[in-house]
Amino acid sequence: MSNFPIENKRKADHSINPVFTDRWSPRSFSNEAITEDELLTLLEAARWAPSAFNAQPWRFSYALRGDALFQPLVDSMAPMNQLWAPKAAALVAVASFNLCTPPGAAAPIANGSHEFDTGAAWAFMAMQATFSGWYLHALGGIDFDKASAAISLPAEHQLHALIAVGKRGDPSVLPDALRERESPNPRKPIRELAVRGKFSDT
Ligand SMILES: Cc1cc2nc3c(=O)[nH]c(=O)nc-3n(C[C@H](O)[C@H](O)[C@H](O)COP(=O)(O)O)c2cc1C
Repeated sequence: MSNFPIENKRKADHSINPVFTDRWSPRSFSNEAITEDELLTLLEAARWAPSAFNAQPWRFSYALRGDALFQPLVDSMAPMNQLWAPKAAALVAVASFNLCTPPGAAAPIANGSHEFDTGAAWAFMAMQATFSGWYLHALGGIDFDKASAAISLPAEHQLHALIAVGKRGDPSVLPDALRERESPNPRKPIRELAVRGKFSDT
């Protein structure tokens, strides 16, 4: 439970488990630390995501605040992200291996769903975080070359995002522009996203 309650005005149009609307991406992190075991529970959830051929293409490189890798990851962030993300308890680089060896194949081939599957893994991680009182905030606003070098990203791998992990803190410390956005945001209506039949039927 955060000491800084925020009104969540999200309302699902169809009945779903509240974990989906409770998950959101704050920027006001407290200074609370995370243990490696706690972080590993989030990555454990990611591990159970589905993937084509069960190839499990997701890869994670993580740093707890204070680890040697933490600052180089912060340095790779766009200036706007450096305004808030350094207070995270941990940073996780989410990457994927873009080859796989399907059953019966003699050699690795391109895995056409490494990105799709790794997206599922990060979503699982975010859901587990919501269950256990942690908040995640993905960052694509990074210098990918810098971040890839910082984590020594191997060949045939792709870096997708950094994930800031933390407990919610005081939003009043955020710069004005970010503080104004510090609440769970809405979604497009489902009818804009899903069609019964062909997309051309709309
Ligand atoms: C791949 C990805 C990259 C993102 N990059 C940034 C970023 O660089 N900076 C930032 O403040 N938020 C970033 N976000 C957060 C999104 O803006 C946020 O997830 C979206 O507005 C939906 O809000 P919610 O996560 O609170 O539901 C990113 C999210 C994703 C999934």
